[in-house]
Amino acid sequence: MVNQMILLGLETSCDETAVGIVDAERRILANLVVSQMAEHQPYGGVVPEIAARAHLDHIDTLVQGALQQAGLRLDQLAGIAATCGPGLIGGVMVGAMTGKALAGVTGLPFSAVNHLEAHALTARLTHDVQFPYLLLLVSGGHCQLLLARGVGDYRRLGGTIDDAVGECLDKSAKLMGLGYPGGPQIEQHAKTGNPQAINLPQPLVGRPGCDFSFSGLKTAVRMLVQQERGTGDEGRKTSSLVPRPSSLNDLCASLQHTIAAILVDRTRNALAMVGEPVTALVVAGGVAANQTIGQALATLAAAHQIACVAPPPALCTDNGVMVAWAGLERLRLGLIDPLDVAARPRWPLAIS
Ligand code: KG4
Ligand code: ZN
Repeated sequence: MVNQMILLGLETSCDETAVGIVDAERRILANLVVSQMAEHQPYGGVVPEIAARAHLDHIDTLVQGALQQAGLRLDQLAGIAATCGPGLIGGVMVGAMTGKALAGVTGLPFSAVNHLEAHALTARLTHDVQFPYLLLLVSGGHCQLLLARGVGDYRRLGGTIDDAVGECLDKSAKLMGLGYPGGPQIEQHAKTGNPQAINLPQPLVGRPGCDFSFSGLKTAVRMLVQQERGTGDEGRKTSSLVPRPSSLNDLCASLQHTIAAILVDRTRNALAMVGEPVTALVVAGGVAANQTIGQALATLAAAHQIACVAPPPALCTDNGVMVAWAGLERLRLGLIDPLDVAARPRWPLAIS
């Protein structure tokens, strides 16, 4: 039997090649992700050219695999969705072109999905959250607070004036000699560290508004690491390239604690700025996978008597399911995109 509302989604905007299939009953029928972490690890960050080539190597097999996992043929789908931006343009083009080709040959409607909207709408797939809700989007490339009023209807309340929060974690981890991506590594080391051990700066905290700044925090981490590397206990040069394990764990715990405090302060201001009741605080993007940060935000939401919703970690980081779901949400509102829609390196979700 053909279900009229099953969508396949493609995600290739950063370093995950992913294909997901969802239906209108909010069931995940397939979820395949190939991470390119190993390819980028030696460089401490994503190399766009390597990413684009790796997407091209994997995407066709993933589409086949996802259909197989769902037990479906292409002609049983209701549409094809692909992330068309924002992101690393070489990679975005791979997913967008694959999606358009699939839509072209099958005659299925095509949905050009904004990657940020895909993160934003995931909580409606996993937790059936109703509009309007406050969205804290925290990923490697983005850090912003938005009021989600409907599909395609977002009001930007604040955002980072320099680095994204995930970028701060990734760059700090690199400075500490930890691998890429930094967020999960820092979370792991923080487990045995003292979050009060090091007093780190909290840029913009206590100020009005809900913009973010993280570059000062990263600089503070750099200075601490350099200090640690430069001199040993008796003031001699040490051969160690990374801080000693105990201080490394303390630094990770303190950094994580500081980031949580910054996010809580800014989100508290956003809740005051919204000016209308919201159903929930939704935390989306890769950093939402962090347990400590999630708990701090949940405490804030509880104080405001609203739910705090974060999709499960596997759906917080980049995946194809969120793209399929965003396509489904758009398609059921009659939003279909032409096959000549452009892939976009920049694509703001909302104008403030
Ligand atoms: O959403 P995402 O997968 O990709 C982007 O669109 O950027 O987010 C990736 C970011 C990276 O900066 C990574 O370090 C961070 O999410 N991240 C985490 C955790 N897992 C991923 N940060 C903190 N704790 C985690 N457990
Ligand atoms: Zn993302």
